[in-house]
Amino acid sequence: MELYLDTGNIEEIKSVIHTGQISGITTNPTLILKSHTSDLKTFKDILLEIISVMKEERDDFTLSAEVTHINSVEEIISQGRELASIDSHIIVKVPLTKEGLEAVKTLSYEGIRCNVTLCFSLTQAVLAAKAGAWCVSPFVGRIEDEGYSGINLLQQIKQTYDNYNFKTKILAASLRSVEHVHQAMLLGVDMATIPKSVFDKLYYNPLTDIGVKQFSKDWEEFENARK
Ligand code: G3P
Repeated sequence: MELYLDTGNIEEIKSVIHTGQISGITTNPTLILKSHTSDLKTFKDILLEIISVMKEERDDFTLSAEVTHINSVEEIISQGRELASIDSHIIVKVPLTKEGLEAVKTLSYEGIRCNVTLCFSLTQAVLAAKAGAWCVSPFVGRIEDEGYSGINLLQQIKQTYDNYNFKTKILAASLRSVEHVHQAMLLGVDMATIPKSVFDKLYYNPLTDIGVKQFSKDWEEFENARK
């Protein structure tokens, strides 16, 4: 399963990209705002900076950049084309609205890869696939905020996409814990995007720490006995 870092923060990207575990970056307007409140960089500059940092590590990455001009199909298409023209690594992120999916149909036909975001139901996910989305992003954590199981939704989308042989990939999003990632992995979804705080925790298990300490201590004893 490919892992993506869900962030607009360049320092966060720099701090994990060398691990080789991250296949790309996903952003949204909230994440961009959060990391760039005072630097006055344009959206395009931020995207170019992320691309340049990513390129130092690998060339086969993607960067999801979200459209913000969303009042009409034409607006979405126009901004989608603009974003895609910045760099070939960019995936155009489009909200799962009626206008959004109509725009995705055109953008996909033109060969522009679209990540259909803010997906909260199976029927929405099927419409996204039928519109030609490159991937769909179900928001697991936000579904759970409403008292439903986001993991069940992922499972239903996975099964339905398999049933109909849809080529659209599933990018599990709004994942907030290691358990969410674990469940997404078990389901075999294609990709998961996570904040750095969750990425860091994926490495951790207390038994590993206890084991490492014990092995170090015993090795020291072994060496000391031979001095
Ligand atoms: O990838 C979508 C993500 O940024 C939303 O996460 O935690 O704000 O629901 P969250």
